[in-house]
Amino acid sequence: MVRVMNIIHNCRVIDSLEEFRQQISELKQQKKTIGLVPTMGALHKGHLSLVQKSLARCDATIVTIFVNPTQFAPTEDFAKYPRTLEHDLKLLGDLGPVIVFVPSTEVMYPEEFDTFVEVGGVARRLEGESRPTHFRGVATVVLKLFMMSGADVAYFGQKDFQQTRVIQKMVADLNLPIEIHVCPIIRESDGLAMSSRNRYLSSDERKQALVLSQSLAKAEELIRQGEKNAKTVREAMKNILFTVPSAKIDYIAVVDPETLEELSEIDRAVAILLAVTIGTTRLIDNVIVP
Ligand code: PAJ
Repeated sequence: MVRVMNIIHNCRVIDSLEEFRQQISELKQQKKTIGLVPTMGALHKGHLSLVQKSLARCDATIVTIFVNPTQFAPTEDFAKYPRTLEHDLKLLGDLGPVIVFVPSTEVMYPEEFDTFVEVGGVARRLEGESRPTHFRGVATVVLKLFMMSGADVAYFGQKDFQQTRVIQKMVADLNLPIEIHVCPIIRESDGLAMSSRNRYLSSDERKQALVLSQSLAKAEELIRQGEKNAKTVREAMKNILFTVPSAKIDYIAVVDPETLEELSEIDRAVAILLAVTIGTTRLIDNVIVP
């Protein structure tokens, strides 16, 4: 039987559950390895770097584009989150043959939907303090996508470092048969970490936003020079962030990369994470110092 599929810009675009299941079962029958790249769209080179990794390694690559309502608090930007599907498909089609799953909210969360993943300690700190229901929504949608796609490998960006830890913990705790691959942060040439939310920044704010990566670079430099005191590192970062009066620091944290527990002494590899609001746009960034 020949199925009619929506081919747009070299992408197979699927929005129904039935068609997606059919596609997955064909791939499984053909014993193809499946790589999954979950996204919320508004794609940029950061997202595309994950897709390239999957294309290089897996027989089939599935990119999902779904702005997941359950990971946004009512006060957050769900309604105004950029939706640029046509452009996203063009970017993906240029990379290679990609299956793009674009489910509607009704497909992912039918009215009777009532089961969520309860995330633990690693989800409670940092982002979890400011956004208490965020990782519950992320873990729930990601688990659904893992199960629906039957993927062998899933690709995530270090840009959302805590998210990678929450997902790795879920995979370990629930014995999910999937490998998680964490890919480096892709930055603009001046250092700003690429993010779909960067497009909210005015041109002035765009310049001011550089203090995030600059403060992380300073922290890394200090640690490499032998600084052991986390407070000293945080103070040096604050001094850079305070040069932008409109910058509001949500957190600056020097943590153990595994547990995300705050460290006072830098006596091992550390992750330095920060969340800062520039104008009305909340940005996150991080660096791991081995
Ligand atoms: P989204 O913000 O669209 O990001 C999708 C993936 O791209 C995530 O794994 C994220 O870490 C990665 N990414 C974003 N910016 C990046 C950059 N500059 N360099 C490298 N990778 C980058 O994260 C989400 O969507 C959602 O929470 C999701 C996992 C899809 C669940 O809804």
